[in-house]
Amino acid sequence: MKQLQVALGKRSYDIIIGQGILSDAATYIAQIAKPRRIMIVTDDTVKALHLSKLQASLETTGLPIKVVSFTPGEGSKSLKSVETLYAEAFDFGMTRTDLVVALGGGVVGDLTGFFAATLLRGVPFVQIPTTLLSQVDSSVGGKTGVNVPAGKNLVGSFYQPKLVLIDTDTLKTLSDSIFADGMAEVIKYGCIVNSELFIALAKAGGRAGVEAILEDVIYTCCDAKRQVVEEDELDTGRRMILNFGHTLGHVIEKAYNFKDYTHGQAVAYGMILAARLGEALGITPKGVTEKISDIIQQYHLPTEIQITGDWQKTILLDKKMQGKKLSCVLLSELGTAVVHTMEAEQFVSEAEKIL
Ligand code: GLY
Repeated sequence: MKQLQVALGKRSYDIIIGQGILSDAATYIAQIAKPRRIMIVTDDTVKALHLSKLQASLETTGLPIKVVSFTPGEGSKSLKSVETLYAEAFDFGMTRTDLVVALGGGVVGDLTGFFAATLLRGVPFVQIPTTLLSQVDSSVGGKTGVNVPAGKNLVGSFYQPKLVLIDTDTLKTLSDSIFADGMAEVIKYGCIVNSELFIALAKAGGRAGVEAILEDVIYTCCDAKRQVVEEDELDTGRRMILNFGHTLGHVIEKAYNFKDYTHGQAVAYGMILAARLGEALGITPKGVTEKISDIIQQYHLPTEIQITGDWQKTILLDKKMQGKKLSCVLLSELGTAVVHTMEAEQFVSEAEKIL
């Protein structure tokens, strides 16, 4: 078992990482909250796989427990789901001193966090992420939100959980493609802040190798995210480095209507493109793109994707635009990210050369 603390003053919280810790959830929760009722939010896949362990542990408290489960997938990350949750919460008699628990991947975590942030102007919540991607990224740092017709994650809030419980056993049931999806974010930490992690991942060579060092890998990623979040909780500066590969990744997701490529696959190729762009601009040393491409291939993520359609428009509408300028994350070396701001038009013309 490993533990870290995200130090954010009154909003500080622990991240606990271990094998089988879902069965001890009640013990960990008792250390951070004294609720009178607990509402668990999950999805139907996770419910079938992992809910019974969590519920058995929480039932030892003798508290009333309500479970609300959604259809798996992005479609459930909506204001309609939040309304469903409000209705269920009021029906259950939730008060501000009760507790909301998110059991699932990024969709469940983001949706539940936003619900908890806005229910009665804020009810404590615990993140229990069950995918690799949510364990190393979305469950830590307090970004919560839902999708709206205008775009993904456009409505949300910063609302930190009271605790993040990471049971590495939950990853055993992930398909290879969902595991690979999370690996894109793991590789990202190696690229942006930790070249030793990058080397360890290259040596591990694939899922089996990573599973042998899973607790360490997740701890290293959470620790990297912790440092960035502590420095820039509200995403006005350094936190932007976590977007490495995401600007061009988003272009890929959008070009394929968020259907043909998963977020991790798009980010993986986005990282190759960002490295190529950095090399073209003379910011990233030659050879880094090849190393990133090699590791992405090792983890069965795409090293080539055709980008079609009006991708220039997607870039110009990017959330990270500031006036006519765009901040993109590049590597000054493998393991060190820099935020590079340039005219959006220049970004587009440089991107045209490398796509
Ligand atoms: N997933 C990026 C961030 O939390 O800032």
